[in-house]
Amino acid sequence: MCAKRVKQSPRQVETTGHQWDGIEELNNPLPRWWVWVFYATIVWGVGYSVAYPAWPLISAATPGLLGASTRADVATDIANVDAANSAIKEKLIAADLTAIGADVELAAYAERAGAAVFRTNCSTCHGSGAAGFEGKGYPNLLEDDWLWGGTMEDIHLTVTHGIRNTTDPDARYSEMPKFGADELLDKDQIAQVVEHVLQISGQEHDAALATEGATIFADNCAACHMEDGSGDRTQGAPKLSDKIWLYGGSREAITHTVTFSRFGVMPNWNTRLSEDEIRAVAFYVHGLGGGE
Ligand code: HEC
Ligand code: HEC
Repeated sequence: MCAKRVKQSPRQVETTGHQWDGIEELNNPLPRWWVWVFYATIVWGVGYSVAYPAWPLISAATPGLLGASTRADVATDIANVDAANSAIKEKLIAADLTAIGADVELAAYAERAGAAVFRTNCSTCHGSGAAGFEGKGYPNLLEDDWLWGGTMEDIHLTVTHGIRNTTDPDARYSEMPKFGADELLDKDQIAQVVEHVLQISGQEHDAALATEGATIFADNCAACHMEDGSGDRTQGAPKLSDKIWLYGGSREAITHTVTFSRFGVMPNWNTRLSEDEIRAVAFYVHGLGGGE
């Protein structure tokens, strides 16, 4: 098979000397342009791996002479945005809480920044639309029925220090007694006071039991929930004379609340968010519809 190399006429192309059944393999040279492009890619590849991060080492890749780093680019971008916003953030921190809304530019910034803070930090408990989870103890922040108050100052304080947490000594605090579990009231008395709560919240109830319950309510509950059940924001005691319930307004849910009490906890945000973020989210919540 391995015949000697022969020049082919008429084009005189060298053959490789390989031949199968009379068919010869020609040894055409690669086109010049192809060869030069091939060399150029090698030069480019070497140059690139010297200039840019390329070869993986144990803990990182070779850094490259140009010091290019997409991580550093992102950090710079973030720093630039922060720098661009620093003036308005300082203005937000310095502003009187009630005056934020009057400054159009500041209000627009607080609204946007607050919405972003809310989505990331608050929506897990209060819902992405801030409607809360009724009956589960996570209050709706859209209506004007406030546990602790709906002014900018009230909301700012609630968000800053939280509620009944153990991490901030300035957290809002109150505790409803466990009337059943601690035997402050017996089963019959609880049944009566529950009928009274059903009555003042406009629900179907047993009138005779509710009348007995009114006295029990005045003696045991009015100190926090007020005589007419309108609630007390200084103690975070919910209004009981409406149809908005934190833990549920059914006979069963109210009986459970009176028997075992409840203990809603919200974290303090002063260790997780900066003051401008707290102010922005307080402004956002205040603007959701129920702000006072
Ligand atoms: C881990 C769950 C949780 C997270 C996260 C959370 N909250 Fe709360 N929040 C609660 C609970 C529970 C209450 C009701 C506590 C009570 O029973 O008094 C509450 C109450 C409030 C209140 C008082 C409402 C009223 O009627 O007075 C405001 C305002 C509030 N949250 C805002 C926020 C904001 C703003 C954020 C995000 C920065 C946030 N919360 C994040 C659980 C949470
Ligand atoms: C020391 C103050 C205090 C007293 C006294 C008290 N409560 Fe409460 N009550 C609260 C607080 C605070 C809450 C909210 C608990 C929470 O958010 O975790 C609450 C919650 C409730 C709720 C739940 C409301 C909802 O929206 O789901 C009901 C019902 C209720 N109380 C009924 C009563 C009745 C009935 C009595 C009397 C037998 C009573 N409470 C006595 C402070 C009190």
